Amino acid sequence: MAITIKDSGELVGAIDFKLRPEFNKSEFGFWIGVPFWNKGYASEALSVILKFGFEELKLNKIFAHHMITNPASGNVMMKNGLIEEGYLREDIVKNGEYIDVKIYSILRSEYEKLKK
Ligand SMILES: CC(C)(COP(=O)(O)OP(=O)(O)OC[C@H]1O[C@@H](n2cnc3c(N)ncnc32)[C@H](O)[C@@H]1OP(=O)(O)O)[C@@H](O)C(=O)NCCC(=O)NCCS
Repeated sequence: MAITIKDSGELVGAIDFKLRPEFNKSEFGFWIGVPFWNKGYASEALSVILKFGFEELKLNKIFAHHMITNPASGNVMMKNGLIEEGYLREDIVKNGEYIDVKIYSILRSEYEKLKK
């Protein structure tokens, strides 16, 4: 899904949402263009995705992976109530280097508590 500025429609980034219906869960990944970093766009997009996933799709779990070289990503997830669930050592390769990855997630029960 595109992340755009409400008034102008300008594209600032994207967020994907990969459903795993057999487990009633979904994985997201987001990306924001560098000129638009640190303006709250990823945080806002994630809050919308959580609302959509839990309130409309009735999912039980929403999760994401992020490279440890991008702590801003973990920060955006924690601000939205996700917690660190796992640490995968040298899990992916970027520019010829193995990179560690963290997994963050939030369960439906945790989302419901946050709304109260
Ligand atoms: C991660 C990413 C999506 C964040 O987008 P964004 O729109 O800038 O995020 P927001 O503005 O909503 O929030 C960024 C938060 O991270 C914080 N942050 C920024 N740089 C940071 C750093 N180096 N270390 C820790 N936190 C950092 C900001 O202060 C802000 O938190 P705050 O609101 O509490 O101050 C963006 O950096 C990006 O596209 N990175 C490349 C792709 C990527 O790594 N995607 C994640 C894979 S799931």
